[in-house]
Amino acid sequence: MAALAWSVLVTGSNRGIRLELVRQLATCPQPLQHIFATCHEPRGPRGKALRELAAQHPSIKLVQLDSDNSPNLSLHATLRSLDSQQMLSVFATNVVGLLQVGKKFLPFLEKAAKDAGKDGLSCSRAVVINISTKLGFIGLCLSVPQAPMYPYHASKAAQNMVMRCMAVELQDKEILCTALHPGWVKTDTGTDKAPLTVDHSVRGVPAVLASLSQDTSGAFLDWEGNSLPW
Ligand SMILES: NC(=O)c1ccc[n+]([C@@H]2O[C@H](COP(=O)([O-])OP(=O)(O)OC[C@H]3O[C@@H](n4cnc5c(N)ncnc54)[C@H](OP(=O)(O)O)[C@@H]3O)[C@@H](O)[C@H]2O)c1
Repeated sequence: MAALAWSVLVTGSNRGIRLELVRQLATCPQPLQHIFATCHEPRGPRGKALRELAAQHPSIKLVQLDSDNSPNLSLHATLRSLDSQQMLSVFATNVVGLLQVGKKFLPFLEKAAKDAGKDGLSCSRAVVINISTKLGFIGLCLSVPQAPMYPYHASKAAQNMVMRCMAVELQDKEILCTALHPGWVKTDTGTDKAPLTVDHSVRGVPAVLASLSQDTSGAFLDWEGNSLPW
């Protein structure tokens, strides 16, 4: 298994799964040098938990980043209730935002991959991980009992395609790209009905990251490293 890279950037990390990811990366046995934790308003009220965490761990550096400036997202809509602006906003954040972040950070990923001084794709070289969801798996949609949430389901399916395309495009640059389903997790998005706590969902993630290789670039894995269909 490969060691994790020296530097990690976690977007939207002021709450939920990604706040817990920052917490666990900051306290893992092989500490990282830099954890760049981004959110809309690091200095505002919504950044409080992240600021408190950063105050305990000098490796955490707070960065303001809004991937698209969209207003608060509403991920639920049926065909009847859907409006086009809502659909466009969710795509702006989930799809265009993912591409924009990838584009902005490409020079750093290229440099990391080049400077790594070793062969093969791995998380100690350069890696892009997108937290996706099984709900973006088109085959599953037929058996999901609730009404389709068009903005969420469609944008997550599109995110998955973006990750596949990035994996193909960046393979020659030795940059690994993988989509990760975190399970159904108790957060504002996952709701209290979810079976997993953020701690449980994130606990296995460093080991999953460390196991990534050429074979799992362009793959869709869950929080325990099991392979999922697209
Ligand atoms: N929870 C689950 O069961 C579950 C299952 C499968 C996949 N996921 C995926 O896991 C990821 C994290 O979800 P979560 O459950 O941890 O969510 P969450 O607790 O509801 O938090 C969402 C985070 O995304 C940030 N965000 C939203 N729009 C943004 C934008 N335009 N630019 C920058 N940051 C933005 C929010 O920032 P603000 O606080 O500033 O709004 C917040 O930090 C999501 O991609 C979600 O689809 C979650």
